[in-house]
Amino acid sequence: MGLFVSFEGPDGSGKTTLTKYISEYFEAKDTPVLLTREPGGISIAEKIREIVLDPNHKEMDDRTEALLYAASRRQHIVEKIKPALEDGKLVLCDRFVDSSLAYQGYARGIGIEEVWNMNLFAIESFLPNVTIFIDIDPIVGLNRTSQRGAKDRLELAGELFHQKVYEGYKEVIGRFPDRIKVIDGNRTVEEIAKDAIEIIEGILND
Ligand code: TYD
Repeated sequence: MGLFVSFEGPDGSGKTTLTKYISEYFEAKDTPVLLTREPGGISIAEKIREIVLDPNHKEMDDRTEALLYAASRRQHIVEKIKPALEDGKLVLCDRFVDSSLAYQGYARGIGIEEVWNMNLFAIESFLPNVTIFIDIDPIVGLNRTSQRGAKDRLELAGELFHQKVYEGYKEVIGRFPDRIKVIDGNRTVEEIAKDAIEIIEGILND
């Protein structure tokens, strides 16, 4: 069995650059890696995410949003993550269930417990071996995403929403203190990656 690592953080926390860097590090060491992100290039999951993130879907209900993320996650697990783990790969996944707990559970106000219970149907208690939370000020992150141009429906939700997402993550970290490791994201990619790699290698060598 491989190792399943997820990465979490506010929008604009640099997860994409970081996970790419970490993936290249392990590939160079001949560790088989799958770098993926929800919806992971899975056709069904991609189509679901298009619906969720479409800025035209202003009428979308919060619970519909939560259900769609969970459905996309389910397909990603079955089609991509589990087969890679069975092949013995190190799976690096940009966002997983904790995003739903922070964004839909806490920030949208559905409740972390409600969203967790609903997600259990999708994940069947399948969780990452370790989750790395990139800790940055959510407003700094949001400003970074604004510089990228076109915004998706979640990025358009505003500062207050993203502040709440951050508070939500803190709640989620309190709930899973053993699984979720917090690292300071206000540093260079190299420095952040070094901490993350240390955590992953610590588990691989165990
Ligand atoms: P993503 O494509 O990962 O964007 P980013 O590169 O900014 O991390 O995610 C898109 C948005 O979807 C992002 O604002 C976070 C949000 N999201 C949720 O609200 N719930 C979820 O379960 C997931 C996976 C993402």
